[in-house]
Amino acid sequence: MSKVDVLLGLQWGDEGKGKIVDVMAPRYDVVARFQGGPNAGHTLEFDGIKHVLHQIPSGIFRETTKNVIGNGVVLDPIVFRAELEKLQKYNLNVHENLFISKKATLILPSHKLLDMAYEKSKGDNKIGSTLKGIGPAYQDKVGRQGLRVGDILADNFKERFKTLTAIHLRILDDHDITYDWDDLEKQFFDSVTLLKEFKLIESEYFLNRELKNGSTMLAEGAQGSLLDIDFGSYPFVTSSSTVTAGACTGLGIAPRYIGEVFGIFKAYSTRVGSGPFPTELQDEEGERMRRQGNEFGSTTGRPRRCGWIDLPSLKYSIMINGVTQLLMMKADVLDVFPVIKVCTGYRLKDGSVTDMLPFELVHEKITPVYQELRGWNCSLAGVSENDLPPALNEYISFLEKALSVPITLISTGPDRKETVYRHPFFKQAVAG
Ligand code: GDP
Ligand code: IMO
Ligand code: MG
Repeated sequence: MSKVDVLLGLQWGDEGKGKIVDVMAPRYDVVARFQGGPNAGHTLEFDGIKHVLHQIPSGIFRETTKNVIGNGVVLDPIVFRAELEKLQKYNLNVHENLFISKKATLILPSHKLLDMAYEKSKGDNKIGSTLKGIGPAYQDKVGRQGLRVGDILADNFKERFKTLTAIHLRILDDHDITYDWDDLEKQFFDSVTLLKEFKLIESEYFLNRELKNGSTMLAEGAQGSLLDIDFGSYPFVTSSSTVTAGACTGLGIAPRYIGEVFGIFKAYSTRVGSGPFPTELQDEEGERMRRQGNEFGSTTGRPRRCGWIDLPSLKYSIMINGVTQLLMMKADVLDVFPVIKVCTGYRLKDGSVTDMLPFELVHEKITPVYQELRGWNCSLAGVSENDLPPALNEYISFLEKALSVPITLISTGPDRKETVYRHPFFKQAVAG
């Protein structure tokens, strides 16, 4: 039996998961998404073209990789259809290489309306949801009334759809939301017809059979550990288990078959949406980071909040996930900063300093404690492992020491090629 490697974000999402899954995919027979849904926006860049995937795994551009949408995902057939349309011109073998779990939960048009209604009713406390229907769809799953992908094959699917959406529409009567239900319903059923053309499978059997036959497998996380439903900055989180354990439940893989855990993080921090962000910079420096990093959401286009790297939260994510290798993204964004700050601890209300994440992050102010390192003040364009600027090597060593996990990959730009490998594993990935 081979093992499943897991790649997941250690911060608040958008760490660059899509890029690295695409880079690593040639090394894997199977790439599988295990949670989240169209709230994800995973960007891949190669041959001068930028692609953003939402629900389809990021191995889809590699000819021989099997891509699986696991049972832990919430799938919106309408978004799925739009994603396929965008991919059409690249002549990918999507019908052959994409497999969808019958147990994945369906996002219905009314879930998106409910998402909007709930956010609106929260006023100033809104989560900043992507409004893709994620929360309401997972609510129905946990509330044991959701519909699943496999249900679209049942004769009475339309009836079941009407029963559930009638419940939703009654709730919406109490909210000030306008919509054209007939149009939404038509879009949904047109998209369901397309979904039926795909391989709808018992993915837990499929994946375990693949492992038994010795296939290599990469589980692709969405969002980030600090948005996890249990361990994130609740209630400003998403509704799924974004951590390694989520790969087990979201794919039907036993914990003993988890292999490497790749924890991916930006050389600084970003967050899109509301919620606590201890190292956030609300000044010119933060604005500069946003500009340099082009920090605008891949799914919603919203500006991302920016700030320095945060070691207490990274240590926490590493602990929860059992990270074995760290991948540092967007190092190039710090090219222009003469001083790089690292948050090494939090000063609490009582004056004490901790490197642990306090329970109360929302209602109590915590002040980051920074250590300053020198910047490298040069462009990382075209650098390789042996000619990294000394100040960047110091930054890497500092982080490795503080986090006690090796940094095995440095990303220096959005393109597949702008990647520096510090580990034979990745060199192999590139060699194919
Ligand atoms: P994901 O959700 O984790 O897949 O990340 P996103 O795709 O939402 O956001 C990452 C953004 O950073 C995308 O626009 C990528 O093209 C871009 N990106 C990825 N790696 C790098 C890098 O090393 N440097 C720079 N400048 N941009 C990068
Ligand atoms: P990827 O996979 C960054 C954020 C939203 C909001 C909160 C809840 O691209 O890294 P939801 O739509 O789940 O109800 O939103 O989570 N969020 C993300 N932020 N990257 C993502 O995905 C995100 N998916 C959700 O902005 O604050
Ligand atoms: Mg993203």
